[in-house]
Amino acid sequence: MDLSIVVNGITFPNPFLLGSGPPGTNARVIAKSYDAGWGGAVAKTVSLESAKVVNVVPRYGKLRSKTSGEVIGFENIELISDRPIDVWLEEFRQIKKEYPKHILIASIMEEYEKSRWQELTRMVQDTGVDAFELNFSCPHGMTERKMGSEMGEHPDLCEQVTSWVTEVSNIPVWAKMTPNITNIKEPSLAAVRGGAVGISAINTILSVIGVDLNTLRPMPTVEGHTVPGGYSSQAVRPIALRMVSQLALGLPQDVSISGIGGIENSHDALEFMLLGASTVQLCTGVMLHGVKMVDELKEGFEKFMTDKGFNSVQEIVGKSLGYFSTHMDLVQKMKAAKRTKAGEASRDNEWGQKDITEKTAELTSN
Ligand SMILES: Cc1cc2nc3c(=O)[nH]c(=O)nc-3n(C[C@H](O)[C@H](O)[C@H](O)COP(=O)(O)O)c2cc1C
Repeated sequence: MDLSIVVNGITFPNPFLLGSGPPGTNARVIAKSYDAGWGGAVAKTVSLESAKVVNVVPRYGKLRSKTSGEVIGFENIELISDRPIDVWLEEFRQIKKEYPKHILIASIMEEYEKSRWQELTRMVQDTGVDAFELNFSCPHGMTERKMGSEMGEHPDLCEQVTSWVTEVSNIPVWAKMTPNITNIKEPSLAAVRGGAVGISAINTILSVIGVDLNTLRPMPTVEGHTVPGGYSSQAVRPIALRMVSQLALGLPQDVSISGIGGIENSHDALEFMLLGASTVQLCTGVMLHGVKMVDELKEGFEKFMTDKGFNSVQEIVGKSLGYFSTHMDLVQKMKAAKRTKAGEASRDNEWGQKDITEKTAELTSN
C-alpha cells in the first residue's frame, strides 16, 4: 500500500521519521534506518563548534511502571551532537547520494548571532539535505549558552532567528518547539512569521526523574550532582497530543506539523496524525526498541486504512480535530441527549457513598 505523503512540497515515502537524537547520530545509523524502512530522518542537532559540546555520563534516567517494569518515562541531559561540523557535512552529502529518495532533515542550532546561523544554514544546505529543523527547544545544557529552549521560550527570538535562516535558505524550514511554555501557539506563530513552513512538536519536558533514597542524590547523578533534564517516552504523549491539536487548530492551514512525543507504535502515530500531524517522529521509542519497529508502524497504518476506508495517508491528517469543543457545549450536548442526570450524579453528595476508586472508574472513558 502507498503510504507516501507530500509535505511542504517534499515527498516522504512514508510519514515515519527518526526524531533528532541518538537514532540519527551519524550516517551509518541513518542509513540502517532507511534500509529498515523509515521514510526519513531528522539528524542529531548540529552546530558550528562541536568542541563546545561536552557530554556527561550517565545522562539518561528511566521511569518504570511499578507493576510491569516497562519504561514509561525517560529523562536525558544529553547535549546536541559533539561531532565536528565538517564530518557532518560530508555525511549529509554521502547520505543524500546513497539514498536520494529518503528524506534527510538537518536539525541546526546556534548561538544568538545572525552571521553564525546564516553560515551554518548555507554550509548545511549545500550538502543537499531536504529541509531544516531549527532546534528552539532543547531544555537543558545548551540553555546555559542561551541556545535551544532559551530561544523557544521567547516568541520574538523565534521570529528573528527563523527569519535569519529563511533569508538564506531555499529549502523548507521547520521550527521545533519546546513544551516548557504556557501557550505553544505563540512562539510557533512567531516562527511562522519568520518564514517557517512547518512546526515540529514537542521536544522534551523539563523534569527530574527521581531521587536515590540511599544516597539522597537526584538522578541522573554525575559525580554526586545533577541538573534537571528533558522528559520523553510514553508518559509525555498526552501532553504532546494536546499541543499538536492546539497547533493544528491555531496555525495557518498551510503550515505542516510533525508530531513528536512518546510514539511507540502505529496506534500512537495514528493519534498524532488524526490530530493534525502530517509526519511523526520517534526518538526514545527507537532507543528502547530498535529501528525494526517501523515494520509494525507500516502494518498498523495499512490495516487501519483498509479497515476505515482511507485511500491515502493525507486523508487521515486532522480527521479528529472537528471533535474538540468547549465544556459548555459538552453540557449542552448532554442535555440534548437527555444524559445530564448522569453528570449531576457525580456532584458532592455522591462522593463518599462509594469507594473513591469505584467512583473514579465510573467517570473514566477508557
Ligand atoms: C537522548 C535524547 C537526545 C535528544 N537529542 C535531541 C537533539 O539533539 N535535538 C533535538 O531536537 N531533540 C533531541 N531530543 C528530543 C527528541 O527528538 C524528541 O523531541 C523527544 O524526546 C520526544 O519524543 P520521544 O518521546 O519520541 O523521544 C533528544 C531526546 C533524547 C531522549
